Amino acid sequence: MPSDKKFYLTTPIYYVNARPHIGHAYSTIVADVIARRHRLLGDDTYFLTGTDEHGQKIERSAAAAGIPPQQFADQVSKTFSDLWKRMGITNDDFIRTTEPRHKQGVQKLFAELQANDAIYTDTYTGQYCVSDEAYVEVGPGEPCPDCGNITETISESNYYFKLSAYGERIAARIESNELLIQPDSRRNEILSFVRGGLKDLSISRTSFKWGIPVPGDESHVIYVWLDALANYMTAVGYGSDKPEDIAKFERYWPADLHLVGKEIIRFHCVYWPAFLMALRPANSPLTEAEWNDKWLPKSIVANGWLLFEESKMSKSRGNVVRTETILDAFGSLKPDLPKAEQDLFATDVLRYFLLREIPFGQDGSFSFDALVQRYNSDLANGYGNLVSRTLTLIQTSFPEGFSQIHSARFSSVTVADGLQSVLTDQWYVGEPNDTGAEEKQETLEASVSRRFANHDYLLAVREIFSFIGQIDGHMSVNAPWKLAKQHDEASRSALESVLYASEESIRIITALLYPILPYATAQVWSQLGLGDIEAAARNGELKDLKWGGLKPGTKLGPLAPIFPRAPKELIQAMIATEENNAQAAAAAKTQTSIIDEAAPTAEENHPSTHPGAGPRTAIFSSDNPATHVAGSAALSTERPGTPPHTEAPASAPFANAAAASDIPDTPQIAIDDFVKIDLRVAKILVAERIPKADKLLRLEVDLGYEKRQILSGIAEWYTPEDLIGRNIVVIANLAPRKMRGLESHGMLLAASHGENGKPVLATFGEDIALGSRLR
Ligand code: ME8
Ligand code: MG
Repeated sequence: MPSDKKFYLTTPIYYVNARPHIGHAYSTIVADVIARRHRLLGDDTYFLTGTDEHGQKIERSAAAAGIPPQQFADQVSKTFSDLWKRMGITNDDFIRTTEPRHKQGVQKLFAELQANDAIYTDTYTGQYCVSDEAYVEVGPGEPCPDCGNITETISESNYYFKLSAYGERIAARIESNELLIQPDSRRNEILSFVRGGLKDLSISRTSFKWGIPVPGDESHVIYVWLDALANYMTAVGYGSDKPEDIAKFERYWPADLHLVGKEIIRFHCVYWPAFLMALRPANSPLTEAEWNDKWLPKSIVANGWLLFEESKMSKSRGNVVRTETILDAFGSLKPDLPKAEQDLFATDVLRYFLLREIPFGQDGSFSFDALVQRYNSDLANGYGNLVSRTLTLIQTSFPEGFSQIHSARFSSVTVADGLQSVLTDQWYVGEPNDTGAEEKQETLEASVSRRFANHDYLLAVREIFSFIGQIDGHMSVNAPWKLAKQHDEASRSALESVLYASEESIRIITALLYPILPYATAQVWSQLGLGDIEAAARNGELKDLKWGGLKPGTKLGPLAPIFPRAPKELIQAMIATEENNAQAAAAAKTQTSIIDEAAPTAEENHPSTHPGAGPRTAIFSSDNPATHVAGSAALSTERPGTPPHTEAPASAPFANAAAASDIPDTPQIAIDDFVKIDLRVAKILVAERIPKADKLLRLEVDLGYEKRQILSGIAEWYTPEDLIGRNIVVIANLAPRKMRGLESHGMLLAASHGENGKPVLATFGEDIALGSRLR
């Protein structure tokens, strides 16, 4: 029964710099809950997710992994789409920004902005945060005010977008709630940002290549945020001439809801509406207001952050939890199910936890302990136990189903009376509602619907579970297991009434829980004898939940326990898996197809949530140093992690391998030992002498994915002029250290030549991308 109403919702498209963690799963799960809810209400729902694959951050991550950016993006993007499949996410499409359909749309968008005079050229000189892919207003060497990461100075001739012209119009649209921003705190944050005045925005880059070229000016790539935001339109046909795409765009655009993490609301609530306003041609038959109604998204909703170990879970910080860990652990509770179903079962556990535990919009901590506790108390002991004890009794006493629809309003059973009234007319909201207003009288369904519509998932779930408590009470008071032992007609009739009321109540809460627990509710639905819950959702049977929907003669399906208790050991098992992952990730920084934690650039190191992180304040300050030339020393005698020598060595132990007879008798290593050493191609940008240190040069090198300072004891053999511009090899993962008060981060690889051990730097005879790995 699809209604005429369409509902188009999106998640952020995730960067492919590293594979997903449960922070990404959180946004995707919430979007899936919303999509399922809208489908069951009958809306023609379109749910989009995808990956954001261009820009400097991805280019550098690919270089760090030593593979071409497209191949890198292909690999990482697949980890997202594969995970969503494993989790049974019901997205209707998955857009990748490297797809031709997207490029075409972005170029069209850019060209139209140009045609409308919304773009001009100018020179940008200032700081850029690669982690956020954002221009930031700080001085050179200062950290990003949003994420605390290092910023880089760029000076480029760029295309600019006239953002400053749109401030008032955007504010007005937000104030009228025509552009609804939720929660309120985010709305206020955006309004005050806009009122502070908007500056024009650079929307192209020239200093790297990995992006969509500006149409007609291939030396520029389009700013990655303009590229990325456009996905919401290109995915539904913008930029295509095909009739079916045009029709699709007409049908679904504008978006009804962009769900995003709270750190990217400025891009969505300010830049995006401004781009869309600017698309209106001067000769448009539509007024500005009409245009905006037709082109601007209706609402932007921000989720808070999942925290782990007290700071924001983020790819680079490494404090992540993998969804896979949870899927594997909870999946193991159902060993008899096929793997795909184990995954869906376990996904339900995570879905339930995230929605029940975190007040939507706020930050919330994740812990394995809480996950297991919540599962046991609510799903195993609460919902699962109620379903299994009720249906088992019904199976024995009424194998052919009930004889009639029973009213639960029989005089002697007050709790049962409560059941029906809750479901029909007077659900008392037992907790003060958000406005602090008095308790409301409405049906459970009406109350839960309102909660869903307000994104109050926690309260929606709490109300459903409070009703589960009432059904439990109804069972305890009426003790159907006792009635079942009596064989008089009155007892039999009471038994039927009591059990009907329980089963009917279970049917109703199961329908309400479906968007959150799609797998488990499908099991319950079929045990109730009601068939396929997905079909029921499509047919409108999960809404307008009237008492009496359970028809006489409905036989139960085969019964089986749904939520087995989770043993405490599961907690330890998940923690151990994550510890292994963390170790593997550390080692994987040096492995070939590594896409895990691929970006060594720190991101989202938000000072306010992670006070210990300490923003890095200068471009070349770094945590790691090492000075001496001869990397060969580390290869032969040192293990990574042991403190390197503090002085430049006079000669390097096994470097002098000119003749076979000279090859020293060094112990053999396994390949595992070698891969621990992260050797990277770097370019020397700056080389200078250090006052009062005859042997040392201070170098600034570019590793492609980051710039560093390295002190090197080669001043006796190389002049600074010899070095600048050379591509060399750096041991990138050497522990940091300080020399002469300066930090040194990594060391250069050189052979040691002749009697005095003159270092000869390893270099390349062919072109090679910075950051490429040697192996
Ligand atoms: O920002 N807690 O991509 P991204 C909650 N490509 N949500 C989290 C989270 C956490 N700890 N970590 C990530 C980008 N997320 C851009 C978006 S859209 C046109 C371009 C979720 O890979 C949350 O939704 O950094 C956040 O906004 C998103 O992942 C960021 O993903
Ligand atoms: Mg991010």
